[in-house]
Amino acid sequence: MFDVDAIRREFPLLGREVYGKPLVYLDSGATAQKPLQVIETLDRLHREQNANIHRGVHLLAEEMTERYEEARARIAAWIGAAEKEEIVFTAGATASLNTVAHAWGEKFVGPGDNIVVSELEHHSNIVPWQLLAERKGAEIRVLPFDDEGALRIDLLPSLIDDRTRAVAVTQASNTLGTRPDLRPVVEAAHAAGAVVVVDGCQGAVHGGIDVQALGCDFYAFSGHKLYGPTGIGVLYGKRSLLEAMPPFMGGGDMVDRVTFARTTFAPVPLKFEAGTANFIGAIGLGEAVRFMQRFDPAEIDAHETALLHRAEVRLREVDGLRIYGSVPGKCAILSFNVEGVHPYDMGMILDKLGIAVRTGQHCAEPVMDHFGVTGMCRASLALYNTLSEVDALADGVQRAVRMLR
Ligand code: ALA
Repeated sequence: MFDVDAIRREFPLLGREVYGKPLVYLDSGATAQKPLQVIETLDRLHREQNANIHRGVHLLAEEMTERYEEARARIAAWIGAAEKEEIVFTAGATASLNTVAHAWGEKFVGPGDNIVVSELEHHSNIVPWQLLAERKGAEIRVLPFDDEGALRIDLLPSLIDDRTRAVAVTQASNTLGTRPDLRPVVEAAHAAGAVVVVDGCQGAVHGGIDVQALGCDFYAFSGHKLYGPTGIGVLYGKRSLLEAMPPFMGGGDMVDRVTFARTTFAPVPLKFEAGTANFIGAIGLGEAVRFMQRFDPAEIDAHETALLHRAEVRLREVDGLRIYGSVPGKCAILSFNVEGVHPYDMGMILDKLGIAVRTGQHCAEPVMDHFGVTGMCRASLALYNTLSEVDALADGVQRAVRMLR
C-alpha cells in the first residue's frame, strides 16, 4: 500500500516550519527533498569510505569504485538500458545534453543539416542545440505545441527530412506537465536516420522510463529532482553512439594512453567522465533509485494524479485563474496565473503562508511566449505531497487574490 504519511516520515525536511507555519513544499520540479536513506548514505560515505575511484589499489579506493559501478548498474537496470556501460555520470541533465550536442554534434552535424526541437523544451534542451547550429551552420526547426499543451506530432512529417540529424524532445514538460507520446517521434526520426534525444528530468520522476522499449538514442536526467543529490546526473546513450562520439572533455580517467604525440581514450562510459567524478553523488543517486525501486511507478503516478486533479478542481474555483496545460495524462505539474495578479506577488504571499511554489519563466521562455505571459506560478507535486497540502495551496491562492485585488 502507498502510505504517504509513512513516506513523509522518511523526508526530514518536510517536518520543518517556515514563518512559524508547517512547510507545504510544492516546488519538487525545481528540486526534490531527500529521503533519509540518501542523506545517511552521503553522510556514511564521507565518514567511513571516502577515497577516489578507478585510481588506487588500497581498500578504500576499491570499495568506493565498486559502489560507484554498482550505482551505475542499478541505474542502468532502472531505466531499462541494455548494459551499464550505456550510463555516463555527468553533473546533471544540462551537462548530459551539452555532452550530446558537443560530442555527438561535433561529429555528426554539418552545414545545411537541421535539428528539430520541441517548443515545450526547457532551455537546457534548446540552447545547446542553438550553439551547435551556430558552430556548424545548421538549422533549428521548432515542433510546436497547441494551446492545451499537446505537442503537434502531426507536423513532424513537414519538419523532418533527410537532413534532420536529431530530434530533441521532453518526456514531460517542466511547465505544462505534458507527457507527449514519444513513440511516433522515435519512429519518424529513425525513419529519417535522425537520433532522438530525450530530456527525462521530470519524466524519470513521474512514472519512470524504459529506454529500450521507447527506443530513444539518448536520455538525460538529474539526480536532485529524483530525490537524490545535487551535482550528479545521467546521460544514457546507446553503446554504438557513445562509441562513435569523440570525447567532450579531456582529463584524467578518460584516457587509455597519453603521449605528446597522441592520446587514446578509455572505453565508454569512462571516455565521457573526465576528471574526478562526483562519485559520492553517483552512489547517492544510486540510493535514490533504490528508494524509487521500492514503489510501483503506477502507484506513484496514481497518487500524484489524484493530487493534481484535486488541485485543478480547487484552483478552478478561484475567480480569474487560468491553468496552463490540460493534456490528458499530464504529470503532476500545475502552472497557473490569476488575472490582475503578478506571479511573483502570488509566490511571495504563498511563501508567507508556508507554501513554496516556483514563480517566473521556469527556464522555458518559449512556453511563456506561446501564452503571451512573462511568468507563471507553478506547483510541482511529488510522491510525498498530500491532499491537505493541495487544499492549503488552493486556500492560499484564494487568500492572496483577496489581498492583491
Ligand atoms: N529545471 C528546474 C525547474 O523546472 C529547475 O524548475
